[in-house]
Amino acid sequence: MNTTNLSLKKRLLTLCAAVTFATTVCAGNLVDGMPIVLGGELSNSAATCVEDIREVMPRMKKAGLNTVLVPVYWEFLEPQEGKFDYSLLDTMVDEARKNNLRIGILWFGAWKNSMSCYAPLWFKQDTKRYPRAVTRSGKPLEIASCFSENVYRADAAAFTAMVDRLQEIDADQKVVSMIQIENEIGMLEDARDHSPEANRLFAADVPEALIRHLQKNRKLLHSQLAEKWQQNGNKTRGSWEQVFGSDIYTDEMFMAWHYGVYVERLAKIARSRSSRMLYVNAAMNSRGRKPGEYPSAGPLAHLKDVWHAAAPTIDILAPDIYDTGFASWCSQYALADNRLFIPESRCCVNSGVRALYAFGEHDALGFSPFAIDQASPQEVAAVTNSYKLMEQIIALYNNRYAYIINKWGVLFDKDSKERVITDGAAVLTCRHYFTLPWDPRANSSSAWQEGGGMILKLAADEYLVVGNGIVVEFATEYEKKYEKERQQTGTERKLGEDGFLLAGDNSGKAKNDNAAPKFKGQRMGIGFVDEVETDANGNMKFLRRHNGDQSHQGRHVRISVDDWKILHVRLYRY
Ligand code: DGJ
Repeated sequence: MNTTNLSLKKRLLTLCAAVTFATTVCAGNLVDGMPIVLGGELSNSAATCVEDIREVMPRMKKAGLNTVLVPVYWEFLEPQEGKFDYSLLDTMVDEARKNNLRIGILWFGAWKNSMSCYAPLWFKQDTKRYPRAVTRSGKPLEIASCFSENVYRADAAAFTAMVDRLQEIDADQKVVSMIQIENEIGMLEDARDHSPEANRLFAADVPEALIRHLQKNRKLLHSQLAEKWQQNGNKTRGSWEQVFGSDIYTDEMFMAWHYGVYVERLAKIARSRSSRMLYVNAAMNSRGRKPGEYPSAGPLAHLKDVWHAAAPTIDILAPDIYDTGFASWCSQYALADNRLFIPESRCCVNSGVRALYAFGEHDALGFSPFAIDQASPQEVAAVTNSYKLMEQIIALYNNRYAYIINKWGVLFDKDSKERVITDGAAVLTCRHYFTLPWDPRANSSSAWQEGGGMILKLAADEYLVVGNGIVVEFATEYEKKYEKERQQTGTERKLGEDGFLLAGDNSGKAKNDNAAPKFKGQRMGIGFVDEVETDANGNMKFLRRHNGDQSHQGRHVRISVDDWKILHVRLYRY
């Protein structure tokens, strides 16, 4: 049986309203045309010898990735000043090509996690030519100063050699699709560099280009920046402290501007040679840390406007999401002026549903768990299973008969168990699978493995539920209102797995349904639930039907925490 038999008319109608995975406008429009990145980032030392690169690439292909993010280390590319060794770069491009993978290059140049640890020894030792950032008290840091033209020239020479080599070995850009410039740039220990050149520029006027950008984009400004500027009178001229006030957040903005200007110069070099996507990544300022306590001044959400003004050639500012609050970090980077792309996220059993959530809810360009080469089989399996579903959904989108007219991402854990989606007159109550009271894991005192995925709307009363660890109930708005009232009055009826009232709920009193409103034509039922798969051309194929116990006798649609599925749901009204 094929469940895709929509009438031609319906297909044409829905086609007109089809959404795509690339609806947001970003700094550079280039990213809109890019294929979705089902990625994984290699651990930091995974590409320091050719043998390791040869071993890891086929493994990543087997794990279901279409893109591997791999570091290119300045210290190996230019071990002696002016002498370049391309063996690691050549090997990674060759191996990716052989395995039909794309790669994203991570330029571990002047800075990696704030520090300058990947600069070659000849650079590190020569602090006279290549000065360090210094703290307020004058302590030098292992952070090259971004105010030094010598630092820039040395970094840029190596970066240029790398991008030129890419043009020789991957001129058609089929393998290397993107370049991350530096890695988690930022100041640590102090919110800003206090070297003499930094102090001079800090006392000088705020660059006009920044002020112009803030004025032009007033409506899109991050609230923290907008408030800070406004509290100081929205001045359009003056030193950094005069325009933005005297605090560590102004110090951070000042550094963000100068890091951004530095990166822009590298980005222009790359862009002059190719149209590869260019991005920068940021460590999040989580758990109440203040500038100086996290890699400050990187492309953090609250500094996005400064980065956009300083580095307009950069296509995406990307969050590395390790901490709790995955969904909240996503929403801070999925913006009208920035497409969400997650180059790093802790690789764990939750990575699979997080990826689906990011794609479904935010139209993410890509997702990439960090150190996937070192992850446990269980963690890798979560990513593999999720990407297998994504491949099918992408095929569906790419199908010229695609008829997806809306989509949502859902992500649940023990603290955030439910999301109610109102889709016109239909209400979808989506929950974590463990909310089913009969699942023994529901009562576990420990944290729940996350559940969720995506909901795709094919037509009125027709959806795909895609993911793992999720239950969805469908109701009309009318029914939902009635159910809410029953909850409020304590007269709701909770059912067990067999459909009987749960033990203890039955008081023995006769149930009076007189208060029930008229339901005729106002109830929503499940017509059928089919597990489906999509072939490479995006044609949906029936696998098996989920009815009886598997749909709680027609009451809901569910995918267990151990399963990864696409369920095709057809509803009806009665
Ligand atoms: C974020 C960095 O960007 C990675 O290179 C790596 O150091 C991870 N942190 C480690 O958690």
